[in-house]
Amino acid sequence: MLTCPVCAQPLTRREKQLSCDHHHSFDQAKQGYFNLLLNQAKKSKQPGDNSEMVNARSRFLNAGHYQSISDAINQMAIDLLWQQQDTQVLDLGCGEGYYTQRLHHALSDHQIDHDIYGLDISKEAIKAACRRSKDLNWLVANGKKAPFSEHGMHLTLNVFNRIMPDALKQLCHPEGRVIVASAGAHHLQQLKEAIYETPKFVEFDAIAAMGQHFKHEQRQSLDFVIKLPPASTQDLLYMTPHAWRSSPQTQQTLLSQPQLALRVQINLDCFSPIAETTAS
Ligand SMILES: C[S@@+](CC[C@H](N)C(=O)[O-])C[C@H]1O[C@@H](n2cnc3c(N)ncnc32)[C@H](O)[C@@H]1O
Ligand SMILES: [Zn+2]
Repeated sequence: MLTCPVCAQPLTRREKQLSCDHHHSFDQAKQGYFNLLLNQAKKSKQPGDNSEMVNARSRFLNAGHYQSISDAINQMAIDLLWQQQDTQVLDLGCGEGYYTQRLHHALSDHQIDHDIYGLDISKEAIKAACRRSKDLNWLVANGKKAPFSEHGMHLTLNVFNRIMPDALKQLCHPEGRVIVASAGAHHLQQLKEAIYETPKFVEFDAIAAMGQHFKHEQRQSLDFVIKLPPASTQDLLYMTPHAWRSSPQTQQTLLSQPQLALRVQINLDCFSPIAETTAS
């Protein structure tokens, strides 16, 4: 299932090492993950989210503010996979692993036999994921060239990440599914209203972003209000690009509120791959 990022041959695991027939080998880090990110594939020294962003995300998610999103993803996954054997599951851009670990528990609770991988380009995020659980397969790797054999994933999650349709297509089993979680038009409405003079309420078009390789199967929309204490508002500001665009005064005003009522509007979309037609 896992393939070598250098030569694309299958990787075999021997204890704490993965290696291919061409003698490329990758040692397991002491925290438990494998780093399959090649140096030349890195655009920066520390790609992806940094440790402050990762820690803020962990605190925010652990406080349970987005638990209903995770529950809805898990229910969608269970409905898709309940009859599946030997299920291969990937959380692409898993961050610090909140959704991955909860999905693993939900599938296990429903006796859905599965191997689950959490992959992220940020080493800091994967180190935090290892602190969540040692039972999952955590990988530092580039999702654009994810190190898996082609068309093997029965389910791939893409939660609040940039969509990489070509990579998703390569990964997806012909009978597989991709679940995409993305922001609806009014997601974090009150935060945007506080930060921007003329806030834009535009929905992310996940169906267009998935391109012509995928058929849209179903959508579930979630729309609810969370009530954030200042510490969680601060964490949310760290984890979203909105914070970088807000002035210190705006941040102070937001943080001085004993409770911020915030609209959460999310779309969960499920996609299936469209079979390639071979030219005759
Ligand atoms: C907005 S965060 C979402 C993390 C997680 N899915 C969540 O919702 O908590 C986006 C994640 O994508 C990761 N990322 C960005 N580019 C990536 C790539 N090319 N391959 C893998 N992960 C990537 C970042 O490091 C970050 O953890
Ligand atoms: Zn190799």
